[in-house]
Amino acid sequence: MTALARRITNCILLAFAAIVLLNCGENVETSEAVDIHSFSRPDLVKVTHLDLDISVDFSKKEIAGTAALHIENISGGSELILDTRDLTIEKVVIDDQGTETTFSLGEEKPFMGQPLNIVIESGTEIVTVHYRSSPEAGAVQWLTPEQTAGKKHPFLFTQSQAILARTWVPCQDSPGVRMTYNARVKVDPELMAVMSAENPTEKTEDGVYTFRMTQPIPSYLLALAVGDIEYRSLGTTSGVYAEPSMIEKSAHEFAEVERMIEISEELYGKYLWEKYDIIVLPPSFPFGGMENPRLTFATPTIIAGDRSLTSLIAHELAHSWSGNLVTNATWNDFWLNEGFTVYFENRIMEALYGENYARMLAQLGHQDCMDEIESLGSDSKDTHLFLDLRERDPDDGMTNIAYEKGRLFLKAMEDYYGREKFDAFLRKYFEEHAFQSMTTDEFLTYLNTNLIKDDAAAKEALRIEDWVFGPALPSNSPVPRSDEFAQVEAQIEAWTTGTAASNLTTENWTTHHWLHFLRNMPKHLTNQQLSDLDKAFNLTESGNSEIQFLWYTLGIRNNYQPIQEPLEAFLKNVGRRKFIKPLYETLAETPAGLEKAREIYQTARSGYHPVTYLSVDPILGFEQ
Ligand code: BES
Ligand code: ZN
Repeated sequence: MTALARRITNCILLAFAAIVLLNCGENVETSEAVDIHSFSRPDLVKVTHLDLDISVDFSKKEIAGTAALHIENISGGSELILDTRDLTIEKVVIDDQGTETTFSLGEEKPFMGQPLNIVIESGTEIVTVHYRSSPEAGAVQWLTPEQTAGKKHPFLFTQSQAILARTWVPCQDSPGVRMTYNARVKVDPELMAVMSAENPTEKTEDGVYTFRMTQPIPSYLLALAVGDIEYRSLGTTSGVYAEPSMIEKSAHEFAEVERMIEISEELYGKYLWEKYDIIVLPPSFPFGGMENPRLTFATPTIIAGDRSLTSLIAHELAHSWSGNLVTNATWNDFWLNEGFTVYFENRIMEALYGENYARMLAQLGHQDCMDEIESLGSDSKDTHLFLDLRERDPDDGMTNIAYEKGRLFLKAMEDYYGREKFDAFLRKYFEEHAFQSMTTDEFLTYLNTNLIKDDAAAKEALRIEDWVFGPALPSNSPVPRSDEFAQVEAQIEAWTTGTAASNLTTENWTTHHWLHFLRNMPKHLTNQQLSDLDKAFNLTESGNSEIQFLWYTLGIRNNYQPIQEPLEAFLKNVGRRKFIKPLYETLAETPAGLEKAREIYQTARSGYHPVTYLSVDPILGFEQ
């Protein structure tokens, strides 16, 4: 072979190798889930660590500072794309040289915000964004002192799930991207700051707090709360933060948390986040709970005084495995977070309080599922476990289906294989995918490899495709039934056929019995019937938020006057969307109710988090 021929051959070989390599690269890319709710391209350039340095200004309702993103430039390309929404970008600097680089904000899309395109070099390692948030940032609620328990100091909290992190931190806002983070947060010295990270337990003199999160997390778990809060230890692993006047009640309500952690570890493996703390937020928190790692954010409406609503804590704790360790890769896979967590939650409650208790919770959940299917329509695609959220706000798809149909699917597998086998499978699943993301397809493949093993009989019995890609509940769905509730139903029957409320057998009823009782009341009741119940059971006076919610709903439907005042107070005080939205919906069913609702909302709206008022606005015809 001549030298020239050899050179040509080498060139051809090289070109061939390059094509093979490129293709390999492409394959790797396509196997990564594409997240339609993020502009970022983590397949090209990936953020691996965040250094946040921000100050919190209550008078301007502004979070401002720098986000230094450590990146891995996989493709060697010249652009980093971040997600932003309503952020002002002042400048962007690359690496430590302080050299400003070119950036541009792309076209704004509803609920998605704008891509921030940043020019980088192939060797760039750190990109520092200088930015400030808007007073309207979708994740953040700025509370006035009047909205807190103490009434003296302002309060702030964030809620980043699903795609709101981008309203207070420029980031790759996709659940498939994980990063570690450090933060320095400056607040008013009278306040304490806490995050989803290693936290302080005392206020500092200068109001500067530093945080470290050494386990990699997705952006939706970035969280910050600032207020006049105190810490109380609950044991070696756990503790609670709350405003001073709430700390005692909170510590009492959550006394069983340490035990819940032990139970969880026995079930599905070691707790890998070191500490598990809870912060009890002011009542405007729009959710029941949020599983921010190391620090669950919780509504005060679960503090009933009798520990009857703590399954919510079991739920958020369970997310430390399902969700925070093994994370839904995209919001279409949301059931992998919530369905697993509701299943896990029920197992914790069963171990803590026994089978009877867990069955009541399971039956209430099953009813939620049936109600959701009815309201969505039994052939709606939103009743599939795997969602299709193209061109939609992920929030729209986050219904009870992911939670309760998801749990029932796992329960059907537990029933088929038996607990021992199914638990071993779950334990291994968490262990082998810790700190990774998971798509529905990847899960189904893993399920087949490790449990089903192509067994034709099992496949036929389980009907996996129907569960995941089909509507409503497949015919092999478990139907949880509680004997306790059978007794409740007997009392409903007695009452509706003439027994006075005061003669019903309700001794030893727990909150859950009452919930089943109220949920299964006839829709139409006379004022006399409602007042018979009220006199016997003091329902209007109840301080249990779940009971209040159901009782007010019955009261609105049947125009029962005694609930008017407490209902109004509830709507003006509580911002938990699960209660507030349906109450306004029920009010809006009649012209007089709608008028009343609009009047209340006029004052109440400014006290709600954006998550809540953006859901209620359309119901009451409010334009922002
Ligand atoms: N992660 C969710 C809350 C969430 C979901 C926030 C989707 C934003 C988007 C949390 O774990 C949760 O499910 N909370 C429930 C309580 C639970 C006991 C069902 C809630 O807040 O009602
Ligand atoms: Zn959850």
